[in-house]
Amino acid sequence: MSDVPSHYTQAGGILERILTGLGDAGLDRERFDHRSVAGADEFHLGGPAATAEVVAAAGITAGHSVLDVGCGIGGPARHMASAAECVVHGVDVTPEFVDVAAELSRRAGLGEVTTFELGDATELRAADESYDVVTVLHVGMNVADKALMFDEMARVVRPGGAVAVYDIMQIGDGEIDYPVPWSTTATTSHLESPDGYRAQFERCRLTVETTVEQTELVRAAISRATESPPPVNLSHLMGDGFTEMFGNLFAAMSAGTVAPVLMVGRR
Ligand SMILES: C[S@@+](CC[C@H](N)C(=O)[O-])C[C@H]1O[C@@H](n2cnc3c(N)ncnc32)[C@H](O)[C@@H]1O
Repeated sequence: MSDVPSHYTQAGGILERILTGLGDAGLDRERFDHRSVAGADEFHLGGPAATAEVVAAAGITAGHSVLDVGCGIGGPARHMASAAECVVHGVDVTPEFVDVAAELSRRAGLGEVTTFELGDATELRAADESYDVVTVLHVGMNVADKALMFDEMARVVRPGGAVAVYDIMQIGDGEIDYPVPWSTTATTSHLESPDGYRAQFERCRLTVETTVEQTELVRAAISRATESPPPVNLSHLMGDGFTEMFGNLFAAMSAGTVAPVLMVGRR
């Protein structure tokens, strides 16, 4: 197993921990609305609010076929399929995440419109021009060869379709302390600047039509979650170590070293 899946599954037992969290909150662990698990399955800064921005900026709409690259345990896929009445296929390199994604979709009644497979962002199995929209939420930080990832995303999106990338990007010179939510050590952390991402979009002839830093959206989402904690959260996904990971990320954001940025390019 490469270091990336090891990082994400270091606490193991993800499905059971999430279901136990739901049960402890008095919810039915066999059948639930996908929004009940959003605190744990939308594994990116800003959670559902940030995914809603991706949907709007990429123009995802009813009938669209969406590929979510680095889908995690499937929260963004379920969110998009439910909110926009589209069909979403998720690809992720972490085996346990793919299994949990499928099981959560089944229990949330979204198994028909969200499907998942094990795969790598730099070597997609999808056919050329087979998706209306390709999304990537907080994945590029793990991908050393962003040119390969962008080549693949540009290859599988149809002409006129959109590639939406919402990643944590390097905006300043400071160092970051590890662990962070995407990496235990610097070895599997590959931050890039917004200019670097823009260069990849342009190299792949994807016209950038949106670039927006989401720091304020993220702060507002954290305030809401603090005031009204969800039944399950990212500690249910990543284990107790998540508090330290998140603390290091937030320190880097406060220092102006990194920021969450949404970029959308059209083919
Ligand atoms: C921070 S999580 C985000 C998960 C999901 N996009 C979300 O927002 O909930 C990063 C995800 O990227 C996946 N990932 C990292 N490198 C990848 C690669 N080369 N190909 C596919 N998935 C990858 C990890 O396994 C993990 O599920």
